[in-house]
Amino acid sequence: MVDEKSMAGDVYFPAPEVIESAHIKSFEEVHAAATADLAGFWGKIAAENFEWYQPWETVLDDSNAPFYKWFVGAKVNIIHNALDRHMHTAARNKAALIFEGEPGDGRVYTYQQLNHEVCKFASVLRSLGVRKGDRVTIYMGRIPELMIALLACAKIGAMHSVVYGGFSTEALHGRIEDSESKVLITADGAWLRGNIIPLKQIANEALERAGAVQSVVCIKRTGQDVEMVPGRDHWYHDLMALPIADPNAPTEVMDAEDPLFILYTSGTTGKPKAILHTHGGYMVGTATTLKWVFDIKDKDIWWCAADPGWITGHSYIVYSPLVLGATSFMYEGAPTHPYPDRWWSLIAKYGITILYTAPTAIRGLMRFGESWPSRHDLSSLRLLGTVGEPINPEAWKWYHRVIGREQCPIMDTWWQTETGNFMITPLPCVPLKPGSATRGFPGVQVDVVDEDGVPAAANEEGYLVIKTPWPAMLRTIFGDPDRYVQQYWSRFEEQGWYLPGDSAKKDEDGYIWVIGRIDDVIKVSGYRLGTAEIESALVSHEAVAEAAVIGVPDELKGNIIKAYCILRQGFDGSDKLEKELRAHVGHEMGPIAKPATVEFVDNLPKTRSGKIMRRVLKARALGQDEGDLSTLAD
Ligand code: PRX
Repeated sequence: MVDEKSMAGDVYFPAPEVIESAHIKSFEEVHAAATADLAGFWGKIAAENFEWYQPWETVLDDSNAPFYKWFVGAKVNIIHNALDRHMHTAARNKAALIFEGEPGDGRVYTYQQLNHEVCKFASVLRSLGVRKGDRVTIYMGRIPELMIALLACAKIGAMHSVVYGGFSTEALHGRIEDSESKVLITADGAWLRGNIIPLKQIANEALERAGAVQSVVCIKRTGQDVEMVPGRDHWYHDLMALPIADPNAPTEVMDAEDPLFILYTSGTTGKPKAILHTHGGYMVGTATTLKWVFDIKDKDIWWCAADPGWITGHSYIVYSPLVLGATSFMYEGAPTHPYPDRWWSLIAKYGITILYTAPTAIRGLMRFGESWPSRHDLSSLRLLGTVGEPINPEAWKWYHRVIGREQCPIMDTWWQTETGNFMITPLPCVPLKPGSATRGFPGVQVDVVDEDGVPAAANEEGYLVIKTPWPAMLRTIFGDPDRYVQQYWSRFEEQGWYLPGDSAKKDEDGYIWVIGRIDDVIKVSGYRLGTAEIESALVSHEAVAEAAVIGVPDELKGNIIKAYCILRQGFDGSDKLEKELRAHVGHEMGPIAKPATVEFVDNLPKTRSGKIMRRVLKARALGQDEGDLSTLAD
């Protein structure tokens, strides 16, 4: 229990009227109830707020931990809750999605209209042979059809695997192959800063190397000519005009524990891993966290400015707002196009009430000064949020003062692809400290511990751990259950704790301050990238024999990538080659993964077993102590 009067540091207390109108008025009370009876807590929420075709026998089955199961025996489909059930309520004619494209075009979908499109596309997918349990890769920009595609997959019980539109050929190819997708859904292009990202062209290149894809569905967005392969490729609008596109397509009845989707994310070593989420627990967890943390009300216009290609978009653009019957806003393009006030103009134009974005975006917009936001009426905003990386107190305060008029609490939400939903987060009723995600969501037991699992002293750095299961947790790594156990549950196996891979501190009030990754994951502008994938892109260039990459702190992007390359004989480390290697990584992985600098070296620090010691490279790059070098080979 926090004694609010004596809290340490810079504290922002919620206004009484914010607490008064919030869904949850006392964090302590709800957290205590959840802690006392976790299964009872979630069982009650699940029963009261969602429709199930058939109820569960057991809320939480932990008999085969860490392969936890939730709502065991229940029948459900998240689409029944996100769309079908709203056809019988006032939500039917409410806006589900308000969209503005980068060129300025706009569209609104009511729940009825969205359902109509989803039903039609679901039956199109069925006609292409997609069945329950199949995988479908989706590679698109931030447009309504992306949402429709995800929802249509879920409706027929197929698992979608979204690949972020900023990724490129090799990243797409690897993810298509690993998932053994039958169908790829893409678009001719995506608008970004007035330019076209040639999605279909990249997809064609990726498919030259990928075998299993039988059909490609292409949405017309940017309108330039693209190469369509006869027999394999179809235009979305052609398929949607056929009689097979049935607006009354039935929703597949699923087990609560049946897979909903996979989403690739970078891990400690090797290839990206496919995180698997399920229909029942994910639905309950994402919708409840959104409702409580962002206090979603009927009249809100919710804007999660993330990309649907990442977990934030899956959970908080696509699924949970629809399950809650809320209105979401989606914007296609860059925040600074054509001017640095595009976002602020959108808030005023659409009357956005809640904005949820990443610290990197806030820092980027902050650079342009206050005059850009100040020319727009931002008074519709009542809550703000951030996610993806630690927010520096300076950016937090700017966001609070300039965008939030000192009246909007900021929900700094810590979570991961794996967790499915917010884990460490304030609620509107919780006192805030700039830079801290505060405490665990009700029922989530988080702690900071040392090597042996002993709780770290106040303000001491340690491992962040999660001590209890939660409904939206990942169930496994698709196709690699051993790695699931190894990666997340082996470090504190005895205690049965989940290891997120972050380091953190806990202050004297029990507030958590996340510091950053302890593994080989680099967060660039909030995007999660794995060193292994970038290194293998570098090594795929003929000049490179070996490569290592590290993240170096950067004021704007959080981290930037620094690469070290050992060249093959006959190649010289010139500026020209550095440029070429950066472009090569951009082509293979995507622009986001391009190293900021490439240094040519004769050798790399390695352990005796040949593992590159990136920690040593990083310490050298930052001029810090190199630490324990006893395992260094040479
Ligand atoms: O390091 C943490 C950081 O992002 C990681 C998870 O990345 P990803 O799976 O891509 O999901 C991002 C969006 C949910 C975490 O391990 N992270 C996320 N949110 C925060 C954060 N670090 C500090 N503060 C946050 N609010």
